Amino acid sequence: MSLVSPWRSDFPALAILEAQGQTYLDSAATAQKPQALIDALTGYYTCGTANVHRAQHQAAERATRAFENSRIKVAHWLNAQSPTEIVFTHGATEALNLLAYGLEHRVRPDDEIVVSALEHHANLLPWQQLARRRGARLVVLPLDEQGLIDLDAAARLIGPRTRLLAVSQLSNVLGAWQPLAQLLPLAKAQGALTVVDGAQGVVHGRHDMQALACDFYVLSSHKLYGPEGVGALYGRGESLLELHHWQFGGEMVRVADFQSAEFHAAPLGFEAGTPPIGAVIGLGATLDYLAKLDGAAVTAHEQVLHMKLLAGLAVRPSVQVLGKPQVALASFRVEGVHHGDLAHLLTEQGIAIRSGTHCAQPLMKSLGVDGAIRVSLGLYNDGTDLERFFAALDQSLELLR
Ligand SMILES: Cc1ncc(COP(=O)(O)O)c(C=O)c1O
Repeated sequence: MSLVSPWRSDFPALAILEAQGQTYLDSAATAQKPQALIDALTGYYTCGTANVHRAQHQAAERATRAFENSRIKVAHWLNAQSPTEIVFTHGATEALNLLAYGLEHRVRPDDEIVVSALEHHANLLPWQQLARRRGARLVVLPLDEQGLIDLDAAARLIGPRTRLLAVSQLSNVLGAWQPLAQLLPLAKAQGALTVVDGAQGVVHGRHDMQALACDFYVLSSHKLYGPEGVGALYGRGESLLELHHWQFGGEMVRVADFQSAEFHAAPLGFEAGTPPIGAVIGLGATLDYLAKLDGAAVTAHEQVLHMKLLAGLAVRPSVQVLGKPQVALASFRVEGVHHGDLAHLLTEQGIAIRSGTHCAQPLMKSLGVDGAIRVSLGLYNDGTDLERFFAALDQSLELLR
């Protein structure tokens, strides 16, 4: 029996892609958008755009209200203590760069910044470059065979020189929830600040910032069914006070003179220039849409699909799945077949997957592989998508052998 997503028709692109013979299995790269978002964007751009936090005219007030409402919605989605703990950025990557610049003053020569071996380049390179700028050391936590950060190694490697710990909640390659509840306190005990890359994790289930108890958490709207060009940085109230300003210009400044200036505190002090207003409003509308869904039903649907994906891969000889994925995706290789060749044939058959190093080259190296194919699922995927994928996989492998 086929597994049907009751939410598929909320995403108009799915029907169009299907009519074009495309099966979308690349949601970890970016997700398709719900009609609710498309309507919100149309509404905003049709009713007259205006800049936010500046003018008093009607359109400006409307835009500012809608923009600030989105901040409230993100804060609510994450169970932040206050909307002032939410800074809008242009994406998760920018939020991580903001942190690496904003926290630079905390890192001194010979200090240590700790990341893990599974980080996306977005949560590796900003810290690597910060370490280089400050003469600090980047310490990399190894993984166990399940693809989880090794907690024994973490207990050894996180020490008095650790200033920052920056780790992913859910790997975009291995699909495993990381043991943050055990890991973050190790850094906290050393007085280090903790940063969680929630770009993938935020898409699956609700995450409570007060329970997670990290200092900073970043998310990406476009993976959460929202528009591109916007992301959010959550910062615990007192942790945000640690951040130095990093981009300078309009709206983030309170008083400016030729030789000096004073800046706003968070969030406005970290939103220099005109923000992506439409996208922020769209993200708010997307969260409204997601909040109306039965979260438990979405999680159950994703789990059943995921099991079907893993089971289908497991019965195909010579397919090796990387790690032990727990949700939403599986990255795999096939013995004797180059992932690029396989991806080419799958693409020709209309299967939209991703192949390569998935912005995690050091992880691939540490796994001893040069790349993999990744199938990733969204709440709109059906059992039929997986049936089409497996049919295409079998046909491709027959051709390649
Ligand atoms: C784990 C992880 N972190 C960060 C990012 C970067 O997100 P953004 O596209 O919003 O910059 C991605 C995107 O693939 C990701 O998967």
